[in-house]
Amino acid sequence: MNTLAKTRLAAALTLAFAWTTNLANFAQAPSAPGAAKVPSLEEYRKYALTHEGDVSHGAKLYADDQKLACVKCHSINGQASKAGPDLYAIGDKFGRRDLVDAILMPSATISPGYGTTLVETKTGEEYQGVLKQATDAGIQLMGADGKLVSVATADIKQQGGSSVSLMPEGLQTGLSLQEFTDLTEYLVTLKQPETALVSNHGMPSLIPHVARPVTARPFFTQELRAPGSKAQSGLTALYQVPDFSNVFLVLNQEGMIWMIRKTATGEEKTVFADLTKDVFCERGPNGLLGLTFHPKFRENRKYYLKHQVFEDGQVATVILEKQFAADFQQDSGRPPRRLLKILSVAEDHSGGCLQFGPDGFLYFGMGDTGPHNDPNGHAQNLQLLLGKMMRIDVDHREDGTGYAIPTDNPFRGRTDARPEIWAYGFREPWRFSFDRVTGDLWLADVGQDRVEEVNIVHRGENYGWNVYEAFEPFSNQYRKEGRKFTPPVFAYRRKYGNSITGGYVYRGDKHSSFYGVYICGDYTSKRIFGLTQENGILKAVRQIGSIPQGLVSFGTDEAGNIYAVGFEGMIYQLDFTESRFDEVKPD
Ligand code: HEC
Repeated sequence: MNTLAKTRLAAALTLAFAWTTNLANFAQAPSAPGAAKVPSLEEYRKYALTHEGDVSHGAKLYADDQKLACVKCHSINGQASKAGPDLYAIGDKFGRRDLVDAILMPSATISPGYGTTLVETKTGEEYQGVLKQATDAGIQLMGADGKLVSVATADIKQQGGSSVSLMPEGLQTGLSLQEFTDLTEYLVTLKQPETALVSNHGMPSLIPHVARPVTARPFFTQELRAPGSKAQSGLTALYQVPDFSNVFLVLNQEGMIWMIRKTATGEEKTVFADLTKDVFCERGPNGLLGLTFHPKFRENRKYYLKHQVFEDGQVATVILEKQFAADFQQDSGRPPRRLLKILSVAEDHSGGCLQFGPDGFLYFGMGDTGPHNDPNGHAQNLQLLLGKMMRIDVDHREDGTGYAIPTDNPFRGRTDARPEIWAYGFREPWRFSFDRVTGDLWLADVGQDRVEEVNIVHRGENYGWNVYEAFEPFSNQYRKEGRKFTPPVFAYRRKYGNSITGGYVYRGDKHSSFYGVYICGDYTSKRIFGLTQENGILKAVRQIGSIPQGLVSFGTDEAGNIYAVGFEGMIYQLDFTESRFDEVKPD
């Protein structure tokens, strides 16, 4: 990590420490002599998980801004206008146990994009809140009191993230065990209202299960975590090394790349490259995000990486060209060639994927880089590489850049658009892939508060964000006269998951009923979906299985097998043999 990053982190930690201490004092204020003893977290949890609550009493407690301050920081109308996440579909998003933990231990898991930002000004003031707006001119934070504070860039001395939630600990201490259970019961009933969503063929209200689910078998049994790694740093991706059928590279968020191989007698794991010093991975979905191999890899040993860096006080995403050592066992150790650097506004939504298309050009996605709502309209702005899919030629160079622009890129030659752009209107295109038979480019775009979507991406088309979120109208602020939008093939609502992970079209066994089915999944619900389409219109979608860990990525190999990567460190191989895509479980 460079010195600037260290200074920034050190500052963030000091501020975070002060903040934690305040909270701890707040939560553990000694009770008056004779006052009833406050139950422990474990007692609250156990009671709420084993008793039923009274929903209407829970609703009253929730709305009581004197006793509990929930309403100060949360809306329940789907507007996400306050500091904390909107809770209108929280009963879809979380099961009872996760819901109870979200209230009892706010900092244990922080909702992406809702972390606490800490700022110290040159005049010594300190602010903390959730980032709502960020431009070159300055930022806006919403604090625990629900008020927006603006700080100009010129006044900022230090800015950093905290691992402590803005939501205070100890909110339950004013409640009896039964009252806490009532509050929980009320939140459980908050489900995304079906009628609030556009009714569309591509977003069925029921997704049937296949009669016999696809099995997810552990593929590699060793623990894949960096020694001394941060508690929340996990795996991000898996790739088979071209022409080496049993050899894979596994990426970890912090910058470790392991080479793993299956042998006749077992398995091996070696360090392929340790990039932890170069990779910025502070919190949220950032760090080492994706890798891909040059189409002529066997001849030139070139591969490409996408990761975050922290330079000159700013988070950015870089695309690098690197090379395998001549023995193909590890990275060559030669300095990388940097093709591109894209500045981020906030720390999330940087896309994650890069892949060569059948045309030999490098495609990579970038998200809007936050904060929530894309308040500056990045994804609709053709002069920025944010919220876009790019396509570049890495084998040639022009105009002082490290790459060339393919002659048929849609915006080449226009003065009002970046020529690298292939398609636009994405929020967070985390994973995409090319169907190896048809060449179709399948992309899964992570939604905000309502829906997740799958697109088939075509040259020059606009996929809607932030005018649309999947099929749903979102905002007219950046709608431009005459612009057309391409709707997704498929979208799903909160009851099926919260964060989509794109996968691959299955091209393994030609006799399988899954041959030609696009496989994708959801990071938080851990469900795996399979779907088919014709001319961009959904034909069939099924829930085909699940994995036990956060479904962060899929992988594939030359034989067409599909793997699922668990964020917490496990890799699974999907076994389709016992399942049929066309056999649906009766309701
Ligand atoms: C001072 C502001 C504040 C108050 C008061 C507050 N929250 Fe939160 N809450 C947040 C923030 C910010 C987050 C997101 C960060 C996190 O995940 O901890 C959050 C997260 C949550 C989540 C997880 C939501 C998700 O989508 O991941 C739940 C559930 C929740 N709060 C419920 C409550 C309830 C119930 C109350 C009242 C007892 C409450 N909160 C009071 C600020 C607050």
